[in-house]
Amino acid sequence: MTANPEASKNSTNSDVTAPHHVAIIMDGNGRWAEAQGLDVSDGHNAGFENLRRVVADFAKRGVEYLTLYAFSTENWDRPESEVNGILALAIAVIAHEAQQLNENGVRIKHLGRVDRISPDLRDELEQAVTTTATNTGLTLGIAFDYGGRAEIANAAKQMIADGVAANDVDESKFALYLYTTDMPDVDLLIRTGGDFRISNFLLWQTAYAEFYSSEILWPDFYGEHIDKAFESFSDRQRRFGKRV
Ligand code: IPE
Ligand code: IPE
Ligand code: MG
Repeated sequence: MTANPEASKNSTNSDVTAPHHVAIIMDGNGRWAEAQGLDVSDGHNAGFENLRRVVADFAKRGVEYLTLYAFSTENWDRPESEVNGILALAIAVIAHEAQQLNENGVRIKHLGRVDRISPDLRDELEQAVTTTATNTGLTLGIAFDYGGRAEIANAAKQMIADGVAANDVDESKFALYLYTTDMPDVDLLIRTGGDFRISNFLLWQTAYAEFYSSEILWPDFYGEHIDKAFESFSDRQRRFGKRV
């Protein structure tokens, strides 16, 4: 599962240029459950199962940074039972997967607020982040209690708290104070579930990301669907505002 650039040569579509940083809005768990007459909690279960599956898929394709939107600052407004179910699932998945991810050289990062999640989840995340901090393979960003606006407001607050002078505030300084401090900008932003909106995800880091929306609901998004997203990415001409 390490992000070895050579590894992409062995993947099924070695001719496709791999993006360095892929971010995913993992949407559609509720609709997936509904379509099968299941409870929303079954949808989230299936979504977390898929998450385990795709981390390896992305590493195999040569991606160095993968950031997954697991729970937004707005998702707290869902029914309490749903929220509690997601928190419990997140704890279970991290507790179960962290060791294997560590053995595969994955570096885990948490992006988001830590003051509202349950102490159990905070502990699991902290432990996973600390244990994997010096790994050099894929960097896996887990966006949990994440909001792009909250992240930007928090960065401003921290800069003021650190006494950063107004004249020293520029884009690179600002970026250092974001949760993504040592991660590059997003190259490819994937949203599953068919919608075309950003829902408060990585507002700063997606300034020039290529957007890919898939109709596939998150629990079913793996394998060939990832290949399609990569093929689409390799067809894009990125200009970054320049005349090329
Ligand atoms: C995304 O799936 C997972 C979270 C927001 C936690 P949803 O639960 O939003 O699925 P839909 O959009 O209702 O289908
Ligand atoms: C975005 O999905 C958040 C996550 C995938 C964690 P939502 O389902 O919360 O987004 P909206 O409400 O459709 O914009
Ligand atoms: Mg949704």
